[in-house]
Amino acid sequence: MASITLIDNRNAERYEFDILHPTLGPDVIDIRTLYKKTGMFTYDPGFTSTASCSSDITYIDGEKGQLLYRGYEISDLANHKSYLDVCYLLLTGTLPSTTQLIDFDNELRKRSFVHEGIKELYKSFPDKAHPMAMMSSAVSALSTFYYEHLTIGNKEEMQIMARRIIAKIPTLAAFTYRRMYGIPFIYPDIERSFSENFLYMMRAYPHAEPEISEVEIRALDTIFTLHADHEQNASTSTVRSVASTGAHPYAALSAGINALWGRAHGGANESVIAQLELIGSIDNVETFVERAKDPDDSFRLMGFGHRVYKNFDPRARILSALLHELKDELGVNNELLEIAQRIEHIALEDEYFISRNLYPNIDFYSGLILTALKIPKSMFTIIFVVGRTVGWVTQWMELQEDSEKKIARPRQRYIGPLQREL
Ligand code: ACO
Repeated sequence: MASITLIDNRNAERYEFDILHPTLGPDVIDIRTLYKKTGMFTYDPGFTSTASCSSDITYIDGEKGQLLYRGYEISDLANHKSYLDVCYLLLTGTLPSTTQLIDFDNELRKRSFVHEGIKELYKSFPDKAHPMAMMSSAVSALSTFYYEHLTIGNKEEMQIMARRIIAKIPTLAAFTYRRMYGIPFIYPDIERSFSENFLYMMRAYPHAEPEISEVEIRALDTIFTLHADHEQNASTSTVRSVASTGAHPYAALSAGINALWGRAHGGANESVIAQLELIGSIDNVETFVERAKDPDDSFRLMGFGHRVYKNFDPRARILSALLHELKDELGVNNELLEIAQRIEHIALEDEYFISRNLYPNIDFYSGLILTALKIPKSMFTIIFVVGRTVGWVTQWMELQEDSEKKIARPRQRYIGPLQREL
């Protein structure tokens, strides 16, 4: 096995560490014995240089701008497969056959209803409750209805737990929307596909059939696919951290939702539209770009930059193409689109953004499509939750079966006072 030597300059002591090879991506140094051998920790705020687990679910090459789910290119999946194909792929490792897909779809449709008690929970939220707060509370509350998932004994029980939450998440998301506006809750329609049913639950009124076009269903389905998983990002790492303690899986997912809430993560898509509205006209774009470059101004271009992608986010490319293809049929707001295109054009040619590898990320475009789908800004991160739940729960399952798993417990570099007397 290849190894690397660490030489301590203070005493010329040498320590050997194994180098582990992944199937794709950079090698990793196995430092699990670092403290035992050297008496030292590593210092890595934000874990930017640390692999916290081994995983065979999702692969990202940030330099190339590549994203694979279970080995498949995201663009192939987004352009040729449905979101439910992708869910099945993530959950099981293989794409479904036609029969498997039909069975999976039927299972999700049947599992999409939530206990009536959940409605009471929603009714108890104050009018001004933030949708992400309602969503994380509702998912946490689901653990009270499915307490048995605390001790999952085998793969079959895991799949039931996973499919249950994937099926119910759109219902909770739609309940969240309807509670925000004080409009009646709508039950799932099991005659409709996953993405169509979500739009139905958002738009329907009792005894009134909402209009939902095929183009809208396709656009939303693609957005769900693009959000389905993204390896060890902040919310997924949160799910794994909570899961590593043995907490209920839905409690771990609820924690993931809370982590996603922040504007540096899932909340960015809401901020992008707010920012485009604030900029207001293409004539103002340059002023805002200058502000984003000013080190003394905390203003950032939302939807630009990514911790891992140092090239175009491949999901952004797909959404950008989808936007152009469907903008007329979807009725995309042309004024906001023009501002976005102008920002993209300036930023991609500007030294500040080029030297820092700042490219548009998925959030830069998703908000424009969601707005065209008549989904309000405050619901954007909820849409992210609906798409990402499959990724979180797949990562949860992988952790359970990982023989090398450990409770998440990073160390620290203490810089406080020395011991003192009272
Ligand atoms: N606008 C202007 N400057 C930026 C931006 C931006 N959007 N993003 C990063 N920078 C600058 C920083 O000021 C910094 O400059 P400096 O080297 O002169 O100090 C440099 O680029 C590096 O930035 P970091 O924050 O250190 O990069 P990091 O990889 O830690 O952060 C992050 C990534 C949080 C996504 C950041 O780019 C950002 O805040 N972007 C805007 C928010 C956003 O779009 N988030 C969505 C992420 S994708 C997702 O969650 C689905």
